Amino acid sequence: MEKKRLIKVPHKIGRNDPCWCGSGVKYKNCHEDFDRRISMIRMQGHVVPTHDLIKNEQQIEKIRQSAKINIAVLDEVADKIRAGMSTEEIDKIVYDTTTKMGGIPAPLNYEGFPKSVCTSINEEVCHGIPSPNIILRDGDIINVDCSTILDGYFSDSSRMFCIGNVSEEKKKLVQTVKECVELGLEQVKPWGFLGDMSQAVYDHAVKNGYSVVRNIGGHGVGLEFHEEPWVGYIFKRGTQMLMVPGMMFTIEPMVNMGRAEVEVDEVNDWTVRTVDKSPSAQWEIQVLVTEDGHEVISY
Ligand code: MF3
Ligand code: CO
Repeated sequence: MEKKRLIKVPHKIGRNDPCWCGSGVKYKNCHEDFDRRISMIRMQGHVVPTHDLIKNEQQIEKIRQSAKINIAVLDEVADKIRAGMSTEEIDKIVYDTTTKMGGIPAPLNYEGFPKSVCTSINEEVCHGIPSPNIILRDGDIINVDCSTILDGYFSDSSRMFCIGNVSEEKKKLVQTVKECVELGLEQVKPWGFLGDMSQAVYDHAVKNGYSVVRNIGGHGVGLEFHEEPWVGYIFKRGTQMLMVPGMMFTIEPMVNMGRAEVEVDEVNDWTVRTVDKSPSAQWEIQVLVTEDGHEVISY
């Protein structure tokens, strides 16, 4: 009997023990039914989230506070952005606004990234590096991707901006990608699958004649900058990870006017561009799966 105990038996939580989620409530009154439901879905062959991906109410509230800064920073950029401005000036707005509000820009020094925000113009898909030498011109479209750390909690969202007189073609790309994110968001509800969201995004982009970037995607977020799962936008309904209450992730599809292929800048090793140099657009929202649907955390 004693010997058997040495064999790897998964630690089983007692029904009267405090729940693993940190709520302080007894397991039987908290996540017991939830765990049972997840394990049945896993046995049907689906990918299911691990416990560390489930945020509790206290954590969610901290992440909301972080997002409050992230949203304010993007609002400030929206207010100031204009033709003639360098992307370095956008970086300064982001750094100053974030730190004034008590936050830290998450990109700064992240895996060696040298600035506080990503600024990606026209054929740049993502991870553009702000520079005093990059000047916004009339007709440009730009993605400004902001991420904030507050007390160790992460928020992440991005918006597109049209600078001055933008062609109808590029305006339509920007608008369509926004619709893609909104249609994806509608699919975010507990006990559905990430693929439900993914297919809604993909179908709308392709229906409009665009291509969807395949190898770069969204991510879990909140306690870390980038958590599991990886969130792609080329998957079918009913596939990919199960969505459950307390999960938080980004919807941030990159959609190209031309071909889907992208490449990383060989000099700075960050900036991603379309191979065919066609324009690309991206919007990003951070979303929480709730008991009855979803809550937008940062946008
Ligand atoms: N904000 C980007 C994202 O959506 C992350 C960029 S990493 C950086 O995941 F280092 F480039 F900032
Ligand atoms: Co992100």
